[in-house]
Amino acid sequence: MIKETDPKKMYEAMKAQLANVVPDFELKLKAELAAEINRLKAEKNAVILGHNYMEPALFNTVPDFVGDSLELARRAAATDKEIIVFCGVRFMAETAKILNPGKKVLLPSEKAGCSLAASITADDVRELKRQFPGVPVVSYVNTYADVKAESDICCTSGNAVAVVNSLKTDRVIFIPDEYLAKNVAKETGKKIIFPTSDPRKKVETELDYQMVGWLGRCEVHDKFTVEDIRNVRKQFPDVVILAHPECSPEVIGAADYSGSTTAMIRYVEKTSAPRYLLLTECAMGDNIAVANPDKEMLRLCSVRCPHMNEITLEDTLEALRKEQFVIDIPEDILERAAQSVERMIAIG
Ligand code: 13P
Ligand code: SF4
Repeated sequence: MIKETDPKKMYEAMKAQLANVVPDFELKLKAELAAEINRLKAEKNAVILGHNYMEPALFNTVPDFVGDSLELARRAAATDKEIIVFCGVRFMAETAKILNPGKKVLLPSEKAGCSLAASITADDVRELKRQFPGVPVVSYVNTYADVKAESDICCTSGNAVAVVNSLKTDRVIFIPDEYLAKNVAKETGKKIIFPTSDPRKKVETELDYQMVGWLGRCEVHDKFTVEDIRNVRKQFPDVVILAHPECSPEVIGAADYSGSTTAMIRYVEKTSAPRYLLLTECAMGDNIAVANPDKEMLRLCSVRCPHMNEITLEDTLEALRKEQFVIDIPEDILERAAQSVERMIAIG
């Protein structure tokens, strides 16, 4: 990370590191913003957490810690700073608040949502629990606090299999990502059913199954296809293809590796193929290219996460200046959601 607070030194440092991925005219403007954010961050005793999907000019300058959702949840749990600025999406900032009820947690844009988190409500979960009484609920961390409050334990893409295995029950409800659920079911050898997208409709609950899923999808990872993989392999036979577990099981099956955002970053670092293709938010390809200048990163940049892209250096500076947008969660929801998140953190 570039820790500069002087705009000129920040510009020089950014140019040395990011010239291949950020045009020079943008670098000048962004260097000023990043330097001011770093100055204000120290003045306000704030910590900035940055998800791996942040654009390179932000990712490499202002966060004190970067990582996947699990790592950032752990960082949030351990911080002693008074203010947490979350450069990621709302459910991640909510998780930081759940782990730090007494601290001010800021999300730089109110528009940074998530299609998975929006796919299920607390009412939906209560209805699932009514239909499948006694079956524990695992909720992907890509859910809002009220859904976490109705769950027994959370998981991320980095620990989903370990969390499901830790329950040691015959059956588990796994929400809301259809593909992640199918991928976990495959890895744990469990048969999965999707009762219906509307749990209030009558369903057959007598079937032989061990997992109950939900039909939520990530609007980004849903777009990658096996056809994309075939086309890229035709053109670049030596390419190594990495896919996030929110991609369909067919895409995961056709890829060479699947893992959380940080697991994919580590995979590229530790292996020595000449070129890689990431089936995930495109900015991460830029960030990996910056850190691994000897490796070629192919990108399918027509597929972007509009929510992660809402978080800019401009908005991060405004968030610190005006201390906006504050994450607020009603106390009863927060307390119950904390149990699910803390159970997950305890597992790893
Ligand atoms: P990670 O937990 O792998 O960082 O993924 C979060 C996410 O939203 C992926 O789309
Ligand atoms: Fe949500 Fe998908 Fe964006 Fe991740 S990439 S934040 S799952 S919409």
